[in-house]
Amino acid sequence: MSGLSGLAGSSVEVITGHQQPSGAYPASPSFGAYRGFCWLRDGSFIADGASAAGAADSADRFFDWCARTLERHADRVEAAVTGARDGHPLPDAEMLPTRFRFDGSIADDDWWDFQLDGYGTWLWAVVEHARRHGRDLGRWATAIGLSVDYLTVSWQRPCFDWWEEHSEQVHVSTLGCIGAGLEAVLGAGVLDGPRADAARSAATQIRAVVLERGTADGHLTKWLGRSDPDASLCALVGPMGWLDPADPLAVGTLRAVRATLSVDGGVHRFGDDVFYGGGRWPLLSCLLGQGLLATGDPVGARAALDWAASTATADGLLPEQVAGHLLAPERRAEWVERWGEVATPLLWSHGQYLRLWHDLGRP
Ligand code: BGC
Repeated sequence: MSGLSGLAGSSVEVITGHQQPSGAYPASPSFGAYRGFCWLRDGSFIADGASAAGAADSADRFFDWCARTLERHADRVEAAVTGARDGHPLPDAEMLPTRFRFDGSIADDDWWDFQLDGYGTWLWAVVEHARRHGRDLGRWATAIGLSVDYLTVSWQRPCFDWWEEHSEQVHVSTLGCIGAGLEAVLGAGVLDGPRADAARSAATQIRAVVLERGTADGHLTKWLGRSDPDASLCALVGPMGWLDPADPLAVGTLRAVRATLSVDGGVHRFGDDVFYGGGRWPLLSCLLGQGLLATGDPVGARAALDWAASTATADGLLPEQVAGHLLAPERRAEWVERWGEVATPLLWSHGQYLRLWHDLGRP
């Protein structure tokens, strides 16, 4: 077994070993600030990696958790829909959160909670999983409908991005994740009537807004009206395919991320990142790698996988980020002091590793 396959094996173990009886995946079991919570964004990509690697039951259990959690909070979805239709949108604090406790309850602590991307990402991931393993989407239909209703009335709202920052902006990767989710469920034929019409209309408008205000110099941008990219945008090419890999905008986005955010195979989140000094993230290298593979560069994709593997600890755990090349070295200590050493393992890193490892033919 190669080192890469060995790391894939330990990745499946980390993911399934830490999965909760409820089906929730902890973002990181050992990192104080994340302990006890499951993020919809992290969890959806973790489930996607587990599903691709063959741990289909684990992914099923996560999507069951998503469905139960959404159904439990259906009243918030209804309030968001009614508020939007009546011209009184809910305040951010009353919208659905980005993370839940493992039992699906919502904590009333302070977090950067209003984030919309995860509600699109889980839709995309559950459709991908169902297609891959021949599952009937009817099992998750109620929660899919709730997510669609929630997103079709709220997609245009500013909210925190993947990195839980800048709630005053409309972020292009957030829009892309919502668009990818809506298009996935439309394509799977699980929506009908007015709900399908609303999803189609939102998906079309999202694409138009991004093309009109979310691009610069031939690439997608971090938020509407800004000119530099963010590495999260790689997800919209591979694995989500929201941008056709043959589209020059897809190629241009990967090129911009590579040129401005990638150093020796490791990928930074964005140019002015200061979180833990702004290191390089293995999960982002794997997302760039998936994009490169989709656009016909298997050599670049393999280099991205190799770099991600090189960040593993001796016992096969992948971190959230690594130091070595920091964008803001003077800002690292304050985070270590506040939250302790970098989250390791980060289950999302393992999920993203598994997906790229699988797509590369399991080297
Ligand atoms: C990251 C988020 C992530 C969360 C849990 C945060 O530091 O910015 O993207 O969802 O950690 O892993």
